[in-house]
Amino acid sequence: MTIDVSDFSAYPHRHLLGIEGLFPHEISFLLDRSESYVDQNRQADKKKSTLRGRTIINLFFENSTRTRTSFELAGKRLGADVINMSVATSAIKKGETLIDTAMTLNAMHPDVLVVRHPDSGAAKLLSEKVNCAVISGGDGRHEHPTQALLDALTIRRRRGDLAGLQVAICGDVLHSRVARSNIHLLNTMGARVRLIAPRTLIPDSIERMGVEVFYDMKEGLQDCDIVMMLRLQKERMQTSFFPSVREYFHFFGLDYEKLSVTKPDALIMHPGPMNRGVEIDSEVADDYGRSVIREQVEMGVAVRMACLEVLGLPREIDDSTVRNL
Ligand code: CP
Repeated sequence: MTIDVSDFSAYPHRHLLGIEGLFPHEISFLLDRSESYVDQNRQADKKKSTLRGRTIINLFFENSTRTRTSFELAGKRLGADVINMSVATSAIKKGETLIDTAMTLNAMHPDVLVVRHPDSGAAKLLSEKVNCAVISGGDGRHEHPTQALLDALTIRRRRGDLAGLQVAICGDVLHSRVARSNIHLLNTMGARVRLIAPRTLIPDSIERMGVEVFYDMKEGLQDCDIVMMLRLQKERMQTSFFPSVREYFHFFGLDYEKLSVTKPDALIMHPGPMNRGVEIDSEVADDYGRSVIREQVEMGVAVRMACLEVLGLPREIDDSTVRNL
């Protein structure tokens, strides 16, 4: 299918709450639009006026460096007014609920709300209460759609196409919204996904998502094109999932020995923030012949510009085509 990247009706949804349910041509459209911003972001003058007069509110209930900063940069580079709501200094600290906060912000007529929240489904709930577009910046263990899009853009620029690639997603899959969004996106675009982790960090029945599961790094990494490492999310662990960090690194930390079984040019990815010496060896993370971790961050700004542009401008939306996204 040929995609007209100037025709925003190619993404016929009010929100971006997840990757699940998106069609391949809708994902390709967002990636193609993102691509057009990569060069612009490398120029001295990075500013456009596409979203002049529009208001974007970043509402982050969890810490973030990459996602919050890149949404802010993306909005500003498109000429929008961007407000970062600090939960620490907001009325949420006085007990205001998510819904009341959303209704309050809605009364100020924002055009896009970007939300990160520790609870799965929070972004969807919010989208049902406000009049503007909502983009999820990550909700609980559910999804982190713009992370999967920026990962896909990074891979596509290096490999040309996602279809047919063998991608290994390794580590704390149980707590990872990044893994879930990437599984949906990679499967939709024709890649094959393997998950590699200790049994305790693999969700029950995850095979139903169309993935292969391995409990040994060297078995799972065999001939892979792409290795995506995941952060060990200790802040979401109420019990012990492995004996010690030292043992975890020994069996599941990415080092040159484990990498030796992948394709020789396999790309190394990590969404950040990284725990060096826990899920990834420092030398491997900084091996810029193979590690594209910094490129992922760069692509994050381009992807978020595309998403803000598509969702922040007024569009005719045919309700019969909206699949609750
Ligand atoms: N990858 C990612 O979501 O990073 P932040 O938590 O810094 O936003």
